[in-house]
Amino acid sequence: MKPIRVGLLGMGTVGSGTVRVLERNASEITRRAGRAIRITLIADRDVEKAKRLAGNVPVTNDAFQVVSNPEIDIVVELIGGTTVAKDLVLKAIGNGKHVVTANKALLALYGNEIFEAAQDAGVIVAFEAAVAGGIPIIKALREGLTANRIEWIAGIINGTSNYILSEMREKGVSFEDALKDAQALGYAEADPTFDIEGIDAAHKLTLMASIAFGIPTQFSKAYTEGITKLTREDIAYAEELGYRIKLLGITKRVEKGIELRVHPTLIPAKRLIANVEGVMNAILVKGDAVGATLYYGAGAGSEPTASAVVADLVDVTRMHTADPEHRVPHLAFQPDALSDVEILPISEVETAYYLRMRAYDKPGVLAEVTRILADLEISIDAMVQKEPHEGQELVDIIMLTHRTVEKHIDCAISKIEMLPVISGSVKKIRLEELNRN
Ligand code: NDP
Ligand code: HSE
Repeated sequence: MKPIRVGLLGMGTVGSGTVRVLERNASEITRRAGRAIRITLIADRDVEKAKRLAGNVPVTNDAFQVVSNPEIDIVVELIGGTTVAKDLVLKAIGNGKHVVTANKALLALYGNEIFEAAQDAGVIVAFEAAVAGGIPIIKALREGLTANRIEWIAGIINGTSNYILSEMREKGVSFEDALKDAQALGYAEADPTFDIEGIDAAHKLTLMASIAFGIPTQFSKAYTEGITKLTREDIAYAEELGYRIKLLGITKRVEKGIELRVHPTLIPAKRLIANVEGVMNAILVKGDAVGATLYYGAGAGSEPTASAVVADLVDVTRMHTADPEHRVPHLAFQPDALSDVEILPISEVETAYYLRMRAYDKPGVLAEVTRILADLEISIDAMVQKEPHEGQELVDIIMLTHRTVEKHIDCAISKIEMLPVISGSVKKIRLEELNRN
């Protein structure tokens, strides 16, 4: 059979990895796909750089030439962003081409429109590389777990922020230096605030939630909080209490709706997922039949991400001639069977909490704080009062609460902050036990 022809947009970290992996493993990939997968045209703004990496493949600086080229069957979009990339993807679909993309921002924001256009055109939009780099989590959620009613997903799904937290905790590296390293290693987004403010993780979580629960993509309703306000003190206090702080993406089906949230989270240090370090990602998925399952691997980087891009290329090549009606739906559920379950605001989410407050070292302080919590029916699981630093009259008090609804803890915090015995604001970090229930 003739090779399938691929047009590649973007010869950066992931694009260059894709070219290398396709070339190095060409023979095995052909045996798996049933025909050769050949890149026949590349677009990059920097033509000279791309030519150096592309071997004999022609290079253009005009990406629209690629998506309009009648000789191309599959367009691989690896330029990133949500403006030109959106136009290119929609144009490729309109021209009857399948699309493979690693662009989670694009799909989290415009997935509904893009998948609908693809459905109408009878083409595939494949996006394994968009979530958790090299881990085949989309395949697992969409196909491997298809018998299950998915109950919840909790994952470390941003390699850059996990790398920063690991470097800070294990080696004492500063936040700024760890971020620079992550950028040099090709892990970070073009705008790294997407990584450190939890936005990239929320893009990925949005996609996983849609596939898990059969809902449209709803990034605007995700709660997003990053790692920039975490302090060394909180990381150390969490350790003392047997917990580790990770940036988690959590989506859960509860009675009132669906939780969709990204935030720093205390998790018991003994859990496997608490020990996922550096650029590695891990995703826990709880299904009603299978129970809890865990997926682990490199969450970013050139060849790990290329591994997922090439897997999609093989999938699309195999499905290229199949009847569109019999393909796996983009979001796992048939497009006319998506449901409109509400995404809950963070104020309605129920979880446990770590609270840290700074108090004057006087009798009765703890009684005042615990009375406020008790009045709101919030019970305390553990409490530590630190010794005052020499010559200081303020002490740190750390409390772990049992589960409660977020609006109740926020109400308690504002009352505690008004107490004359408390100095400054109360630090709140959410806590999840992540046991198998
Ligand atoms: P890079 O910035 O390394 O590569 C993007 C390339 O595309 C650059 O060479 C860029 O050129 C080029 N480019 C940008 N705009 C255009 C355009 N309009 N026309 C032609 N070329 C263009 O990004 P990555 O490879 O890191 O990321 C690509 C995508 O993959 C993003 O969506 C990202 O979120 C996603 N991703 C990245 C991962 C990673 O580990 N890096 C992992 C998983 C997903 P120039 O440099 O001149 O702008
Ligand atoms: N910037 C992303 C991360 C790339 O660090 O996880 C992988 O999606």
